[in-house]
Amino acid sequence: MKHVKLALLGGKPAVPEGAIRKWPPIDSSDEDLVLASLRGENHAYGPNCGAFEDEFAAWNGNRFAITTNSGTAALHMGVAACGCGAGDEVIVPAYSWSSSATCVLHHNAIPVFVDIDYDTMNIDPARIEAAISERTKAIIAVHLHGLPANMDPILEIALRHGLKVIEDCCQAHGAEYKGTRVGRLADCGAFSFNQNKCLCSGEGGMFVTDNEEILQRARMVWSFGETRTPAEDRDYHAYALGWMYRNNDLTAAFGRAQLAKLDAYLETAARNAKILAAGVRDIPGLQPPIVPEGHKTNWYNFTCHVDGAAHGYQGPPARFRNVVMKALRAEGVPVEVWQDLILPEMTVFQAQNAYGQGSPWNYGRRLSYDPALFPMARKHCETHFGMTVPLRAPNDEMVAQHVSAGIRKVFERIGELDVDALGAEADA
Ligand SMILES: Cc1ncc(COP(=O)(O)O)c(C=O)c1O
Repeated sequence: MKHVKLALLGGKPAVPEGAIRKWPPIDSSDEDLVLASLRGENHAYGPNCGAFEDEFAAWNGNRFAITTNSGTAALHMGVAACGCGAGDEVIVPAYSWSSSATCVLHHNAIPVFVDIDYDTMNIDPARIEAAISERTKAIIAVHLHGLPANMDPILEIALRHGLKVIEDCCQAHGAEYKGTRVGRLADCGAFSFNQNKCLCSGEGGMFVTDNEEILQRARMVWSFGETRTPAEDRDYHAYALGWMYRNNDLTAAFGRAQLAKLDAYLETAARNAKILAAGVRDIPGLQPPIVPEGHKTNWYNFTCHVDGAAHGYQGPPARFRNVVMKALRAEGVPVEVWQDLILPEMTVFQAQNAYGQGSPWNYGRRLSYDPALFPMARKHCETHFGMTVPLRAPNDEMVAQHVSAGIRKVFERIGELDVDALGAEADA
């Protein structure tokens, strides 16, 4: 019989070595565009930058796009462009990437955290209203792991309270909510093109909006407080506090080449995820990603929840999860804990002193960032693992089958492992 013994106990791994190929796939279209950029004359905000903006806006269905050097830059531009300033409050999910919330601090505003919905891992709209005060200016809706946030109630609350909504689409290229692409659902959106994203240009990002006024304000933050782009007749006048968030021609060339293949990549990920989800269905103690009705995920990260109690384990949930991960990795399944800390736990928020002298909290009010206020986010940290690369092109159906066989094997034989004995090592 194949794969009988767990690889962690000396058996043969379920995923053959070298079966999972690296991300992103590079071919001659990437080489041609990047080399042409290198041989061109403008390596700063060159012709590929404007072309990338136009092509991305057309792909996503936005009126305007600004190419940036990171998703974080695009988020900060959104916070500023939506009129959030010193002491204003911005609602942010308690679980996300750090810069979904530090982008608020960048503009001297105060993040107010709201717990997540455990199943979808996105902000829980039912908890937003309690976090709104007279200082609240905006909500950052993060589409985590490529699954759109539950936008209808978020937009309804925002409308009722006169708040702007900024979409953090950094992980969600091509995801849709009720048939509309993310980045078109609210006032503006931010995408990331870093190494692991569904569109990778090494680093980089894109700010999108359909609102001309928001575009103009975002543009000042993007480029030295100026109102004109480097492709226009600049007057070199800083009209407002600006940063230097522009992209460069080589990176934009790489981004354009990858954008041309993005639809095919997303189809591959959806196909592989379908096979993987079917392969791990009905495994006791394993909850694969939940995609609610009306949501279309881009499968950025296939994130699962693990429940040790389903296997009779009564110890710390994270210990059980960590041992499962150790066994999965031994099988060649490259699982990871995406974030071990919830955002309010991070030192930068606990200290409430981002710019020094208590700023920005001294302009507004001090808040409680007690992790106990965010039990679902905490529980998620202790019980999830995820994976990205095995689902992505050029990996195919065969890889999805190997991976699901590895997961099934570990959960079927988990009783052979002494979780507490292995736990201390895995906890470390
Ligand atoms: C949800 C989320 N928001 C924001 C970012 C920031 O993007 P970047 O690394 O391009 O600044 C990332 C990725 O790192 C992310 O995953």
